[in-house]
Amino acid sequence: MNRPQIDIMTPEYEVDPNPILDNIRENHPIYFHEGLDSWVLSRHEDILEALRNPSFTTENYAWQLEPVHGKNILQMEGSDHRSMRAIVTPTLRGDQLRENFESVAEHNAKELIDVWRYDGNVELVSQFTLRLPLSVIIDVLGLDAEDKPKFHVWYNAIHDYFTNTAGDPEVEAAGLRTHDELKAFLMPLIQERKMNPGEDLISKIVHAEIDGERMSDIDIKSYISFLLVAGSESTDLQMANMWMRLLENPEQLKAVREDRSLIRTAFAEALRHTPAVLMIMREASEDVEFHGVTIPAGATVTLMLAAANRDPRKFSAPETFNIFRDDLETEKEYTAAANHMTFALGRHFCIGTYLAVMEAEIATNLLLDAMGDIAFSNSKSPKQLGSFVRAPRHMPLTFTPIS
Ligand code: HEM
Repeated sequence: MNRPQIDIMTPEYEVDPNPILDNIRENHPIYFHEGLDSWVLSRHEDILEALRNPSFTTENYAWQLEPVHGKNILQMEGSDHRSMRAIVTPTLRGDQLRENFESVAEHNAKELIDVWRYDGNVELVSQFTLRLPLSVIIDVLGLDAEDKPKFHVWYNAIHDYFTNTAGDPEVEAAGLRTHDELKAFLMPLIQERKMNPGEDLISKIVHAEIDGERMSDIDIKSYISFLLVAGSESTDLQMANMWMRLLENPEQLKAVREDRSLIRTAFAEALRHTPAVLMIMREASEDVEFHGVTIPAGATVTLMLAAANRDPRKFSAPETFNIFRDDLETEKEYTAAANHMTFALGRHFCIGTYLAVMEAEIATNLLLDAMGDIAFSNSKSPKQLGSFVRAPRHMPLTFTPIS
């Protein structure tokens, strides 16, 4: 086992992770990363195996997420985990998804676009993609609209905490403070919804029964806290990534403008080619061997989803963003049989895939209806930031207003 010369989590990686990911996937399919104190896997079939093998647990979330959210769904296994999923999944599928989220997403997207639709320019991230999914999940949970600014602050603090690879103590302290502040905010609300249930998702969670028993208030608090972030962060980053790639490929943007059913395809291709989530972790509960190397019990394993998404053993011309590629199966890419890895796979496969693509579809339709001749303001693609999760943080655009 030898290590790559230029590794992940370096300044070079921050600038452009893809050449480094290509190298580790092809030449170092397993190695130990000192900084992360973790084994690294990057081939599609290895990550598939790791996500399906019960010897890889999600205990790692005890240190990655629990300090901020409390014990949450990602850490759970077995029947507790299945029950947790069962409480929310029906809301996020089929008719219930449309009833609960469609008009809320449309209303919020229109409200955001109306602020700048006749300006001819917009900073798409801060004025749209960053705001929409969080606003939607806040509404669906039945939280007060005037509390939205508070959630944006908490959300940013949690995002920074989770991606604080430099170990900045102030960022860490702010993330931990969020735990107490969210708890102080949510606990009385949970009590209130117990007594006066409404149609919102918090009321549904509060009154849900698992094998005849209700969840404890503290478990409900942790679940809601996690949903607020899981339900918004990745979707907002992924929308920005899709827009960036479509604007870099104007002929594909034109095709999407002319045939709006292609929005789902474009979002699926962006999930593969430019994932918002580059990597996730697992913990080995027993010794497991890959490529003749043993990952010892108790070790952390980092799964490079972004590398698997460009594995040439799985995808043809993987470095090309192409919504017309033969190996893209649009509807399958939102299920647990997906070819890409960006929603993970296996027991903890993302439960919000249909919500994410529904929001992207509604948002993209409305954006295309409001903006013609869209281009990057300075003719340059925006810079992507982030090593754990990654997207442009600014995307200034010019456009011709459409009335
Ligand atoms: C493009 C958008 C999204 C991406 C890329 C994404 C990505 C992921 C990934 C990678 C995981 C698995 C983590 C792991 O196994 O370690 C996950 C789990 C999860 N996601 Fe998403 N997600 C997105 C949108 C959403 C939305 C909109 C929701 C809203 C409700 C959501 C809720 C969850 C939940 C609750 C889990 C935990 C599932 C479990 O532990 O069984 N996600 N997501």
